[in-house]
Amino acid sequence: MWKGRFQVETSNLVQKYGESISFDWRLYPYDIQGSIAHAAALQDAGILSKAEQLSITKGLKEIKKEIDSGEFKFRTSLEDIHMNIESALTEKIGDAGAKLHTARSRNDQVALDTRLYCRAESKAIYERLLNMQDALLTLAKKNPDAVVPGYTHLQRGQPVLFAHHLLAYLEMLDRDCGRLRDAYSRINHMPLGSGALAGSTIPVNRKLIADLLEFPQVTQNSMDAVSDRDYLAELMFVISMVGIHLSRLSEDVILWASAEFNFIELSDAHTTGSSLMPQKKNPDVAELTRGKSGRLIGNLMSLMTTMKGLPMTYNRDLQEDKEPLFDSVETIKIALEVFAEMMAEASVKADVTAEATSDPFLLATDLADYLVRKGVPFRQAHEIMGELTAYSIREDIPFQDLSDEEWEQFSPVFESDVRDVLNVETALKARKAVGAPSPANVARQIAKWEKRIAKPPGLV
Ligand code: ARG
Repeated sequence: MWKGRFQVETSNLVQKYGESISFDWRLYPYDIQGSIAHAAALQDAGILSKAEQLSITKGLKEIKKEIDSGEFKFRTSLEDIHMNIESALTEKIGDAGAKLHTARSRNDQVALDTRLYCRAESKAIYERLLNMQDALLTLAKKNPDAVVPGYTHLQRGQPVLFAHHLLAYLEMLDRDCGRLRDAYSRINHMPLGSGALAGSTIPVNRKLIADLLEFPQVTQNSMDAVSDRDYLAELMFVISMVGIHLSRLSEDVILWASAEFNFIELSDAHTTGSSLMPQKKNPDVAELTRGKSGRLIGNLMSLMTTMKGLPMTYNRDLQEDKEPLFDSVETIKIALEVFAEMMAEASVKADVTAEATSDPFLLATDLADYLVRKGVPFRQAHEIMGELTAYSIREDIPFQDLSDEEWEQFSPVFESDVRDVLNVETALKARKAVGAPSPANVARQIAKWEKRIAKPPGLV
């Protein structure tokens, strides 16, 4: 492609070191789509005849079919997807193909291809995020009454509905959806026409290209447009955040599926056995997801580190953006798919979770609130309940079995109605504030999420 200036062939080692076709072949549908739009703009600018434009478009569509079907031979010597396609086109249609690169550089071409790729993949990820929310909602709806201990420091804290615990993840994934929409709005700018860095002396109608490719706006600075990778970093941050959320859920699932908790049973289809220990049923999907989230974060760090020291404008370092990007996109898509399938089919052992939630200490705070309602300052109530807890442990008498006299020893404010507080159902019903886990609140939230998932805001 640059033979004019050079007397010696590129060394084989340099070709091997610098090629990107082994991974950027993934951009082919976008490269072709972009070239078809570029050809239309070149025709509009009077560089290509109508016949030339048609022959380019036809040739590119044929190449697309050849790549789709696996017939196309990618050549490492042609370095990247852009040159592989252009060279195949020129072989196919002759001179018209050689005109296609007018007013274009691989720098704005790769920026366009990557934006088109990110746009398509953002939509795919968005869809999967919604499916994942739907799967968690399905599990919540299948177990509307199941109660679980809520934990802080992985110590039992207070009772919650299992559905409330799951809906916490819908909140996280909803923020991820919002972040994705936000990132999308900055991906959705059309960079072609920026040339190598300073546009072109041949005036191409960039607005026309943007319209053909359905971009609502064109980039406004050619130097920025060929070197900007912020939109990739943003997308990869969103993906990392989704990964972190799935990783946290993984940890919950791994704990819940252990014999120690025994709160859920995963389907055989989503677990694996051990080659040595016949009794094992391992939550590998959750472990892999927890593991893969590290890779997603690593990919983001890799891109940001690549970007941070680059002088304006395009530098070849930027070719290093693609492998982490492709890896993150592909990893998060399958992680969301498999996780959604697994969660929708998990079964909750409501008897075991109820047993765990019947631990009376989970209601120690509710007892302190009882004292508060009767006029005891909270700090004193807290201390009284602390002493009562220590007494209950020492004497091995659960709260509900303490006699009236024992209660009174700790505070004269306690009356026999204190035992009404010692009930998980009462405790949940009383948690009525916005965001708290009363059954009525949780039912309202479930209805809200059903509507939202059915009619999500679009990506623009
Ligand atoms: N394969 C290159 C990349 O991914 C395409 C752009 C190359 N531009 C250049 N002037 N060498 O960044």
